[in-house]
Amino acid sequence: MRILITAGPTREPIDPVRYISNRSSGRMGYALASAAASRGHRVVLISGPVALAEPPGVRVVQVTTAREMQAAVRLWFDRSDALIMAAAVADWRVRAVSRQKLKKRSGTPVLRLVRNPDILKGAGRCKAGRLVVGFAAETSRVIAEARRKLADKRLDLMVANDVSRADSGFDVDTNQATLLGIDGSIERLPLMTKRALAKRIVERVEQLRQSRQSRRGALTARCRRQSR
Ligand code: C5P
Repeated sequence: MRILITAGPTREPIDPVRYISNRSSGRMGYALASAAASRGHRVVLISGPVALAEPPGVRVVQVTTAREMQAAVRLWFDRSDALIMAAAVADWRVRAVSRQKLKKRSGTPVLRLVRNPDILKGAGRCKAGRLVVGFAAETSRVIAEARRKLADKRLDLMVANDVSRADSGFDVDTNQATLLGIDGSIERLPLMTKRALAKRIVERVEQLRQSRQSRRGALTARCRRQSR
């Protein structure tokens, strides 16, 4: 399979030296890329800024902002059989990025934010037989929220994890996840390394592909326009 994976945070500039971002280390997405490549898949990894080595055998596309990530996903999605969106995309960006460094003597700035595009939702609408997998990092009502997002974003599989636990989610090597399928299946996994979880997720994607024999079709004209 050709698998497209996103990883890491996005970084949204405030001025030339400052930005808004989040705690994502990129470890889950990089583990997914390694697992998929070692299982013989052709992997493109679209990565936000992280401090991790590029996984061998993977084509890495580096991006910074959510809009750059969206452009890269649109470009590669057309040529992929599955998208696994593990990136922690910043939900907002600064509306008017200052070209000059903001000066303290000019007073305390008030930042006006605007919503970033939901990359995964866009892909879910345009998938034409491609498998689409999302992550839901939640701090409360984890399963209910993940289920809602699974349907709303038209995903095939959702990886739900409780990021309020110290041993799961952001910036640690382990994760406790529940895999929710669009068929209503629930697979609650024990606390495990991100490497082990990555392998399990890639196996599920392989199973989905086999069971459905889903083959990617041509994107509709509207989706093709979007991917330019
Ligand atoms: O809605 P929420 O941000 O919780 O959804 C998480 C999932 O959606 C993740 O898979 C994340 O990569 C993706 N996402 C996205 N674009 C956004 C926000 C989240 O693709 N702007």
